[in-house]
Amino acid sequence: MPRHTTVAIIGGGPAGLLLARLLHTAGIDSVVLESRDRTYVEQRQRAGILEQATVDALRACGAAARLDREGLVHQGIELRFAGRSHRIDFPSLTGGRTVTVYAQTEVVKDLIALQLAEGGPLLFEAQAHEVAGADTERPEVRYTHEGRKQTLTCDYVVGCDGFHGIARAAVPEQVRRTYERTYPYSWLGILAEVPASCDELIYAHSPRGFALHSLRSPSVSRLYLQVPNGTDPGDWPDDRIWDELDARFAIDGDWRLERGPITAKAVLPMRSFVTEPMRYGRLFLAGDAAHIVPPTGAKGLNLAATDAVVLARAFAHLKATGSADLLDAYSDTCLRRLWRAEHFSYFMTSVLHTDPAQSPFDTRLQLAQLQRIAGSRHAAAELAENYTGLPMEGSVPPSFPSAR
Ligand code: APR
Ligand code: PHB
Repeated sequence: MPRHTTVAIIGGGPAGLLLARLLHTAGIDSVVLESRDRTYVEQRQRAGILEQATVDALRACGAAARLDREGLVHQGIELRFAGRSHRIDFPSLTGGRTVTVYAQTEVVKDLIALQLAEGGPLLFEAQAHEVAGADTERPEVRYTHEGRKQTLTCDYVVGCDGFHGIARAAVPEQVRRTYERTYPYSWLGILAEVPASCDELIYAHSPRGFALHSLRSPSVSRLYLQVPNGTDPGDWPDDRIWDELDARFAIDGDWRLERGPITAKAVLPMRSFVTEPMRYGRLFLAGDAAHIVPPTGAKGLNLAATDAVVLARAFAHLKATGSADLLDAYSDTCLRRLWRAEHFSYFMTSVLHTDPAQSPFDTRLQLAQLQRIAGSRHAAAELAENYTGLPMEGSVPPSFPSAR
């Protein structure tokens, strides 16, 4: 195990793994420290809707062979509200864009296999405790592996250690600003061994709360129900879940939700969170370590991938030219696009869910907004562009003021 590396990466989720792969492709060495074991990281259930830019990044680092075989290209989504179904057609609204359905668990498995086969070191059960000297030329990561305390020195540290990680704390409080919103509801997510009852994802607004029908593979469906915060999944026997899904997805006309054995149940809280800046000295934050979106709209993985791409490009530019310009621009570059995605995720969440404190007036406003999306090409295109992923540059005018 090297004691020094160019880029020390804390966290082996999608952000850290993709960054390590992209750096490897650019001939830059790194070490990934991941606190959990391999099985845990590979089994963690998360969304699985990939924007084209995420697919491109996985291809660029050689990790898309299985994705190209098994990923399902989706050309739209279905919105359900007031007993009716409306399709949002991505290609015709966005000039040809689509998304690819391929679970985050599979993205992570593919990246891990490749990195272990031919990349730099990727250590599981290696828990980072502290980033020291972030504002010096020679930062250090202190971590424990196989019961021994170790120190990794490096040129740069990237905190890809998710929302509960330790890297963010190395940015001094006087420098760091955080923005946060919690939501008064959670999602009960299930995996079921049953083919999806739909060809495309269904996002349903109903008087009983939000429901989402997604899928993991041709034989496994992923479904979600809005539930109160603090819900115990034990209070939701399988029949209750299917009955509630039936009620929330109900439309006038013919549609049937197929039932099957439920193999996993979990309650997920909803949060929006941003920390600024995403860089302090030689420490960079990427993915959930820097920002969280609520899952409505499936932006989390894609935002993590964008950070990894922007950062890998900046390191490659530094290596090729000696210029740190792109590294210096990293935080602003990512935050500009991030805030758009924050707004989109917040918008999708608040227009589709029922806030427990919501009045009938609020519900009418939600329905008016959903009707506008269903009835106006402009409103539908706004949703489709955001859902399929806005380009890195051009998502805001160049004159947009710096985030700091
Ligand atoms: N030391 C080492 N590893 C750590 C530490 C630590 N102190 N703390 C956390 N980690 C690891 C976690 O075990 C996890 O594997 O960092 C990784 C962070 O991964 P994610 O939480 O998946 O975050 P990220 O890679 O940014 O990916 C974001 O994941 O949460 C979803 O919806 C989100 O899809 C998005 C994606
Ligand atoms: C999922 O497949 O888990 C999923 C899909 C779309 C979302 C959120 C989650 O908006």
